[in-house]
Amino acid sequence: MAIIKTTENDKLEFDSAVNELKEYFSSLSVRKGRTLTYNVLTYGCQLNESDSEKLSGMLASFGLEASSGGELDAADVILFNTCSIRENADRHLFGNLGVFKTLKKNDRDVIIAICGCMMKVPENVEKIKKSYPYVDLVFDPQQLHRFPVLLRDSIRNKKQMVNISADDYIAEDSFFPIDRKRKFRALVPIMYGCNNFCSYCIVPYARGRERSRSFDEIVRELSELASKGYKEVMLLGQNVNSYKGEDGKTFADILRAASDFKEFSRVRFMSSHPKDLSDEVIDIMATRPNVEKHLHLAMQSGSDKVLKDMNRPYTISRFLEIADKFRTKVEGGSLTTDIIVGFPGETEEDFEETLKAVEKAKFDAAFTFQYSARPGTKAAAFPDQIPSDVVTERFGRLTEYTNRYSEESNGRLVGKTMEVLIEGISKAGDMTFSGRTITNHLVNFTIPQELGINIGPDYLEGRLCEVRIDRARPYSVDGVLVSLKGE
Ligand code: SAH
Ligand code: SF4
Ligand code: F3S
Repeated sequence: MAIIKTTENDKLEFDSAVNELKEYFSSLSVRKGRTLTYNVLTYGCQLNESDSEKLSGMLASFGLEASSGGELDAADVILFNTCSIRENADRHLFGNLGVFKTLKKNDRDVIIAICGCMMKVPENVEKIKKSYPYVDLVFDPQQLHRFPVLLRDSIRNKKQMVNISADDYIAEDSFFPIDRKRKFRALVPIMYGCNNFCSYCIVPYARGRERSRSFDEIVRELSELASKGYKEVMLLGQNVNSYKGEDGKTFADILRAASDFKEFSRVRFMSSHPKDLSDEVIDIMATRPNVEKHLHLAMQSGSDKVLKDMNRPYTISRFLEIADKFRTKVEGGSLTTDIIVGFPGETEEDFEETLKAVEKAKFDAAFTFQYSARPGTKAAAFPDQIPSDVVTERFGRLTEYTNRYSEESNGRLVGKTMEVLIEGISKAGDMTFSGRTITNHLVNFTIPQELGINIGPDYLEGRLCEVRIDRARPYSVDGVLVSLKGE
């Protein structure tokens, strides 16, 4: 397995495939007498969302239009970008794939393709080969830059094509047309892959070895985003703190470079690993006003024994030390985490250690997961898998704890006026808007009519405003807009 940088030749091949596909879809569109559409279904984390922005950009460059937006919309090209982090992620694909069978039966020109992390798990690929013959193309996340070439070949071959690479590629963002989903937020992957091999996790198998993008290329992209009016950048990687750029450039250098663009009101990043988070990064968070005061640091368990079995190279006291350092240095900052319950061999005592650690760290929010055995990982073969009723019971107790602290964290905002970056109309659909504080607290708010503010979402998205917080909920707070910045 090698790490390969894309070359000029790859780009020439890419461009030639795009041109061929443009011609193909244009004549198909004439034959059908209508505009052709695509639907990209995205599951999983923000890295997948970022990949889907590129896949959508490529599909648009073939002359196709996005379908109207429903998850299961019929379209001429259906592309599943899958996730395999837990078993229920796998179920999404097989649950939804069947929906498109009739579509393909009624129209042989429809193309169904699958990519994403699930395609690096051989069992899934075998299942598709055996039971889903109507799928046209299968490829893995390492080969995003080859999508036009693979799609062209699958159309030429007219039979199911499965193309899984043995190598890990690295392509710069400039390689791709990107169709960014939010007009104020840009997802910027800075590194790919993971070398940590936590014993439960599929990601190192699905995404390959760690590889970092060029520092100069990232800065060039950030500068372009700043000049295009983006207000928020999200620097992405499974383990952003192990970024290694040219000339010894580190993640701290990227964070500083991003925050130097004053056009960005928010510079965010995901995810950090306790073993690599440097004091320098915490200092940057503490001192740079446009760097978010929010650290997502996965704890996973409060038991040293379980952490060791998980192959997480820190003790719980080391984790709490880092948490403390963050709390002391980044005043008013928020700390969030991921926790797994029911890892093989987790005893009641181990689980109670986790509850104690939650009590000490007082996370502002926690993503809690029931352990799910992933095929091919070390932990899947461990003895002492925990019965599901025990896992469910512990999970309930844990979320009671974590919810208590997230409610407290939200409660501390009540009565304060906070700066909020507006993200859009909130899901409630009742002209309540939503946004986030620099500490990543989710705020739903109304806008008093008497302020006479243009409430068009296009006008408001990405703008900063002041919101008076008057109520805390478990996962968000409610408030009223006081003023719009820059009015
Ligand atoms: N790279 C990130 C995590 C990405 S996956 C980090 O290390 O912080 C997001 C979360 O999913 C993990 O932190 C973990 O809590 C959870 N997760 C991963 N594999 C899992 C599994 N097999 N079962 C349950 N939860 C899992
Ligand atoms: Fe998975 Fe661990 Fe890598 Fe995070 S650091 S992606 S949990 S292997
Ligand atoms: Fe899922 Fe792959 Fe992300 S397994 S969580 S989509 S890296």
